[in-house]
This record gives sequence, C-alpha cells and structure tokens, in this order.
Amino acid sequence: MRFSAAALVAALPALSAAQENPLDQYVAQFQQVLGQVSSYIPTPAKYDAAAAEESKTGPLKLSVLGQHNWEETLYAPVTAGAKTPEEWWILITGGNKTCFGRCDQVEAAFTGAAAKFADLPTTPHMGILNCDDQPILCNAWAAGVGSIWAIEMLPKPAPIDIYKKRLNLTTVTTDEIVQLQEAGTKEEFTLLESFWHPFNGKAAELGLSIPLGYLLWAFNLVPQWAFMLIVSFASRSMM
Ligand SMILES: *[C@@H]1O[C@H](CO)[C@@H](O)[C@H](O)[C@H]1NC(C)=O
Ligand SMILES: *[C@@H]1O[C@H](CO)[C@@H](O)[C@H](O)[C@H]1NC(C)=O
Repeated sequence: MRFSAAALVAALPALSAAQENPLDQYVAQFQQVLGQVSSYIPTPAKYDAAAAEESKTGPLKLSVLGQHNWEETLYAPVTAGAKTPEEWWILITGGNKTCFGRCDQVEAAFTGAAAKFADLPTTPHMGILNCDDQPILCNAWAAGVGSIWAIEMLPKPAPIDIYKKRLNLTTVTTDEIVQLQEAGTKEEFTLLESFWHPFNGKAAELGLSIPLGYLLWAFNLVPQWAFMLIVSFASRSMM
C-alpha cells in the first residue's frame, strides 16, 4: 500500500500551504475532524510499562518510547535554560511485522552500545522505539526501522535537531555504534528535515502528527481497491 501513503503525502504540502490563505477554516475543520476521529479509534499501540521501567532503571538505562510518553521521556533530562543539548539516541526497530524479523542484530548491537554508554558520563541517553508495538508513532514520524535518530533536546520552545543514521541490518555491531559516538561529529548522519519531524515538522506544527499517523496506519490496513473507492466517492461528492 505504498501508493496510497504516497498519494496522501503528495497532498499534504497543499494542505500546509493552505494555512496562509482563505482555506484556513477548512484546514481547521480537517484538523478537528481528524482529531476527533482518531480519538475514537482504539490505539493499536502496545506498551509493557513494567518491562519498560525495568529497562530504564536497569543496567542499560534504556528507555522505551511509546505514543503516550515519548515527549516527556525525551524532555526529562533537559533542564530549564540549558544551552547545550541533551542528546538522545533512539533506535527505530521492529519485529516480524515492520522489520520482517530482521532487526535482531541491530537491536543486539544497540543494546550492547547502551550497556557501554551507561557507565560513561558524556554519552547519549539511549532509547528504543519498536514500530511493531507503536505503529501510530512510527507512521506519524515516517520513521523507518533500522535507523538511529540522534535527537538534540533543548528546553522548549527551541527547535530540536534530529540526525538520522541508517544501519546495515546484517553487518552492524556494537563497536560500530560506539565508534559513531566516539567520532563526536554527525558526519555519518543526515539532518532530518521532513514534514513529519516530531518537533519542527509541519505536521507537528499543525497538531496533525498523531491524527495523520492514524490515517497512514489505517491506509496500510485497507486494501488498495477500497482506497480507490473512497477516493472516487470523495472526488465525486466534491464536484
Ligand atoms: C517472528 O517470526 C518467527 C518465524 O516465523 C517466529 O519464530 C517468532 O516467534 C515470531 N516472533 C514474534 C514476536 O511473533
Ligand atoms: C550491508 O552490508 C553487506 C555486506 O557488506 C552488503 O552486502 C549489503 O549490501 C549492505 N546492505 C545495505 C542495505 O547497505
């Protein structure tokens, strides 16, 4: 169902451009409706709070991000007035559904790095986002599995830089991740500049990240013919 998601994404710049013109009220309506609809849909997110607490307070100090707590988790170590960012490294991973069962090695490599970083003072805070468990959040961020997101947290309302590094699922090792950190630069990373950026993106600015996350998730569940039917109905009723 890549097609439908792509079509939606293509439509979005138009939506955000609409903010500046008389379509404002429609955008507001759309936001409201989408917000309402998504609040009725039971979340498909899974979060094992006990296991997450154990992971966070255990030797790895590895936080588990969920739709309900990602923002407070990331802001937790940030102190008011801080000028240097608190850095988080979040591994985007998945299980059989979103990573086809191929994320075991990258998870092992990352948790290995977390174990090393946990004892060192100037290393990033470590966290994990599992897209099998958190499909809405992964859709809302357009986050693909097998990447590290290095997130430079500053106090609100500062914009937040995020650097992405794709890892090779078959070859990645703990040493490679440790070296990435020791290098001390973001040369091997790419700055995230996307509509879906969780803090600075247009979707977040419009308050649409999570509703659109639901929408994209739903699109991935409906068969393509049903999607075509909806589009055809919608376009006819607009005429
Ligand atoms: C993933 O798939 C493998 C192979 O089909 C299976 O052995 C494993 O139990 C599955 N894991 C989960 C978490 O469902
Ligand atoms: C991962 O590394 C292997 C071995 O070096 C290489 O053959 C493969 O193309 C790499 N995969 C990706 C996605 O870069």
